[in-house]
Amino acid sequence: MNSFITHLSSFLIIILPYLVSSQTCQNTCGQVPIKYPFGTGVGCGDPRFTPYVTCSGEQLTFTTHTGCYTVTTIDYSNQVMYISDPTMSTCSCTQPSKGFGLDWDAPFSFHDSTVFALLGCSTTSSPIYSASGDGGSNTTFPMCDSEGGSVCSLLYSCEAIGRLSLPITTCCVYTPVDLGPSFEMDLQKLQCTSYSALYGFNGQESNPAGWKYGIAIKYKFNYNNDYPTLCATCEKSGGVCGYKSSPDKAFTCNCRDGLNRTTDCFYGGKWSHGSRFIPWKAEALSLLGFTWFVMLVFVLTGGCRLE
Ligand SMILES: *[C@@H]1O[C@H](CO)[C@@H](O)[C@H](O)[C@H]1NC(C)=O
Ligand SMILES: *[C@@H]1O[C@H](CO)[C@@H](O)[C@H](O)[C@H]1NC(C)=O
Repeated sequence: MNSFITHLSSFLIIILPYLVSSQTCQNTCGQVPIKYPFGTGVGCGDPRFTPYVTCSGEQLTFTTHTGCYTVTTIDYSNQVMYISDPTMSTCSCTQPSKGFGLDWDAPFSFHDSTVFALLGCSTTSSPIYSASGDGGSNTTFPMCDSEGGSVCSLLYSCEAIGRLSLPITTCCVYTPVDLGPSFEMDLQKLQCTSYSALYGFNGQESNPAGWKYGIAIKYKFNYNNDYPTLCATCEKSGGVCGYKSSPDKAFTCNCRDGLNRTTDCFYGGKWSHGSRFIPWKAEALSLLGFTWFVMLVFVLTGGCRLE
């Protein structure tokens, strides 16, 4: 009877995923593949990333204190997330903006490829002071871009940006480092009306219409930036990495059958530590179990008739 229950349960475990296919954590959000440390909801991915990157209505959104931005792509091998700011100016469209900033306590920083260009800055605000005045520090940056053929002068050659009816004298490019410890670009404080951000020239250095507009943001897995081994194992088994709602936010592997396991989604991973079955073996086993179950029922009913 013991073996009967074992086989029946192994049979149920195998057919269960086909009956309830309810993986809570998804591995895509719209067109964007989702992998650790990102997640499609609370309990998915790394809890440190949950407040900043969310998936709703097939759209992956990055949120900071300055606004909400669409995540266009994520380069997982280089750990870079590309976002676009709807208020940002490009060669084809100029519009007012308040600026952009990262939350100081969030696990993100600007990627070195990101270039910010301030547009339509006030002539009286020169020299421009740091917006990140922690404790009122008043540092000036030599931010003005004066070289010919530079990012700023090329941007001003765009029809849309040249149309800005403002006193245009100060056009500055900064590298992320100059944004200071709070990574803040407050255009109001800087007295600029708009900004443009780009993360690549697309092989067309002198053609601003062909540049890659957007902001490239780096992320780290943890202090040492190691990909957690537990999560790699979980992903290899078809699971999505997540965390428990308990205060310790312990790791869980969210499997295709909707269940959460402590290590991975391989058959047997839940009960037997040490021995681990690969899926095809598990299926063969269950088939065997099912056959035995049918035979057992046949024998039992047959036995009744004999008596
Ligand atoms: C599995 O984990 C996810 C995310 O933490 C949670 O939403 C879901 O309810 C859990 N499922 C079960 C069956 O515990
Ligand atoms: C920074 O220095 C300028 C000129 O010295 C001054 O006018 C301005 O008030 C200072 N700003 C701050 C925040 O101290």
